[in-house]
Amino acid sequence: MRVPLLDLEPEYREVEAEVLEAVRDVVGSRRFILGPRVEELEERIAQYCGCSYAVAVSSGTDALLLSLMALGVGPGDFVVTTPFTFFATAGAIARTGARPLFVDIEAESYNMDPQALKRLVHDMDGERKTRIKAVVPVHLYGRCADMDAIAEVTESLDIGLVEDAAQAIGAEYRGSQGRTRRAGALGNLGCFSFYPTKNLGGAGEGGMVTTDDHELYERLRILRNHGDVSRYHHEYIGGNFRMDAFQGAVLLVKMKYLERWIRKRRAHAALYERLIADRGVARVRTPDHGPGRHVYHQFVVDAGEARDALRAYLSEGGVGTEIYYPIPLHLQPCFSYLGYGPKDFPVAERAAKSTLAVPMYPGLVHDQISYVVDLMAKFFEERHHEKK
Ligand SMILES: Cc1ncc(COP(=O)(O)O)c(C=O)c1O
Repeated sequence: MRVPLLDLEPEYREVEAEVLEAVRDVVGSRRFILGPRVEELEERIAQYCGCSYAVAVSSGTDALLLSLMALGVGPGDFVVTTPFTFFATAGAIARTGARPLFVDIEAESYNMDPQALKRLVHDMDGERKTRIKAVVPVHLYGRCADMDAIAEVTESLDIGLVEDAAQAIGAEYRGSQGRTRRAGALGNLGCFSFYPTKNLGGAGEGGMVTTDDHELYERLRILRNHGDVSRYHHEYIGGNFRMDAFQGAVLLVKMKYLERWIRKRRAHAALYERLIADRGVARVRTPDHGPGRHVYHQFVVDAGEARDALRAYLSEGGVGTEIYYPIPLHLQPCFSYLGYGPKDFPVAERAAKSTLAVPMYPGLVHDQISYVVDLMAKFFEERHHEKK
């Protein structure tokens, strides 16, 4: 049996006719950038996330960059994030001219550790502390970071809180007060990616920024279009961060299916968990759900030091896997100027060596999941016998 890490085929089979019609409408309208479909998508996403406003942009990376620009982040500033994320999170910070500061992650959630954030801030002298302009937690794999604890810090410093929700559309966070809110409504600005492989994926590049703050909303819209306040009057230096109309049209169609697809992902995650427990694959740790709703953009297991051998074994058996992410960002060559080194963030460094994403997409079927878990069980059995 072959089980790819991701297969967009079943998803597109469901929506193809509607998508093609929506694309044809855009061609017929001759309106290719922004426009009514994109505006409708902005309204739908704002409503879905429980926010007042949403601004459609050209990618998740641009959503992050634009958000930081709207907060006025620039050279000399510090922005705190996690080293265990996709490159774009820290890349966007560095591109504003600010300096990324990393804090370690929690071992269970792989998300920013609020205690580590508190320690970083506590240990900084007054002058340096005033240079922190924002914190960017990441809702990695589709599980929300501990936003209440992180917001305590950003509120006490009166600085921006930008969610990197690129992997987490529809994820929910149940805070300490028992209130449940969706990703994108948990900070000052929420950043989403519609990269084709995401839970809500376009047919090209796309992203979105959500906010409840009217002033930030206005600034986002102006900066999205070269800082143009009225035609050819540029009060700020922005960029071209506009979404194209095809993505608006395709995403509006796919939006209708999003909740169903999330339910399927969650059912697949529950099945993986049950089968892994039933077959006694005790050496594999399944993801911690956390409070709220995990949307399983990825289903990432922890296989300890057996990770690479397990990955090779699954690959031989026709199962696709991936490592998100093999090199923590503080150890990337392009960030050597920040002066971090090995052992600075041990939890992230360990996760980079022990975690493995296994197949996860709505169109997976029971037999495929069962096959993946059977292979895992066989791998550990054989290893056990070899060691005897
Ligand atoms: C955590 C995270 N942040 C940012 C991005 C950037 O999004 P995009 O690829 O749409 O630029 C991605 C996705 O690739 C991501 O996974």
